[in-house]
Amino acid sequence: MKKSGTVAVLPGDGIGHEVTHQAIRVIEKLNAEFAAGLECTTAPVGGTAYDLHGHPLPPETLELARQADAVLLGAVGGPQWEKIAREHRPERALLSLRSELELFSNLRPALLFPELAAASTLKPEVVSGLDIMIVRELTGGIYFGEPRAMATDEEGIRIGYNTMVYREPEIRRIAHSAFQVALQRDKRVCSVDKANVMEVSELWREIVTDVSNSYPDVELSHMYIDNACMQLVRAPKQFDVIVTTNLFGDILSDAASMLTGSIGMLPSASLDANNKGMYEPVHGSAPDIAGQNLANPLATILSVAMMLRTTFENSIDAQRIENAVKSVLASGLRTADIAREGEDPIGTSEMGDAVVAAIK
Ligand code: IPM
Ligand code: MG
Repeated sequence: MKKSGTVAVLPGDGIGHEVTHQAIRVIEKLNAEFAAGLECTTAPVGGTAYDLHGHPLPPETLELARQADAVLLGAVGGPQWEKIAREHRPERALLSLRSELELFSNLRPALLFPELAAASTLKPEVVSGLDIMIVRELTGGIYFGEPRAMATDEEGIRIGYNTMVYREPEIRRIAHSAFQVALQRDKRVCSVDKANVMEVSELWREIVTDVSNSYPDVELSHMYIDNACMQLVRAPKQFDVIVTTNLFGDILSDAASMLTGSIGMLPSASLDANNKGMYEPVHGSAPDIAGQNLANPLATILSVAMMLRTTFENSIDAQRIENAVKSVLASGLRTADIAREGEDPIGTSEMGDAVVAAIK
């Protein structure tokens, strides 16, 4: 049964505005024609919020995100905010939303649409049929570990340090997430760590292995992060689900995204223990093309599909969106990031028009 509910839309900065605008149009169409029942409210976040309210995550925005059933986020950041104090930078808003809402499980699919095989920098035979899910731990590890500082030691030498720390329950819950996801897929989990060097990884490997005992139908393997990077570009189709730490997941998911041809195609979900989620495109705010109707809105539109399926248990309307995207790609329409030489690209709003029209 599909659930209705509220969505906090946080466009953020740069192309975040344009791409979320197209996603809202998709939601409006689903509301009007298929009674999807999603009520959207928009609020500023990131550099845009800093300029308006002096803070990248104003209390009103955080409260709206807390009260909503799901959050749809565009992207944050831009060169004009790179010099301000760290605690006021746009990226802080993202990290605070993740930790305040306890969105510990970040799902980042790398799925190749057959129509786009030629857009990948890898050979078509290496990537065709690619379907990987990266499950990234999102509220712990070196991103949040203490102690952390930039300081000066007793000899007057400047030092900077961060701490990669995981507590057993944090590893357990993300391992469960990954095994649950694997049960819906090809039932294989590869846990990525650096257990040959780091104690935190040794614990990670031990706990993931222990959790795997509760999932006898899922096959577990382990890989070091350096080897995983190599395997991801050498033979990416060997992977089904990858589960890893915050930092390793950040790196691997950018690499995996390029296998699919464009980071402009990939959605993501960041979930709490009750499947409340924040949904966002994997790409950033792309200030160089912002406001020019050049951005690809498909990653954000596909994030709405993930949101419908996961938070609102509405796979019918999720499928409607995914089918619409597939048919638009099949008809040959391309934004600049996925267009091949000689193909005439369309703009952000035209791509939005095409998807809205194709929803049936
Ligand atoms: C991501 C981004 C963020 C991260 C930045 C913007 C803080 O790179 O979502 O992958 O490192 O998590
Ligand atoms: Mg990243």
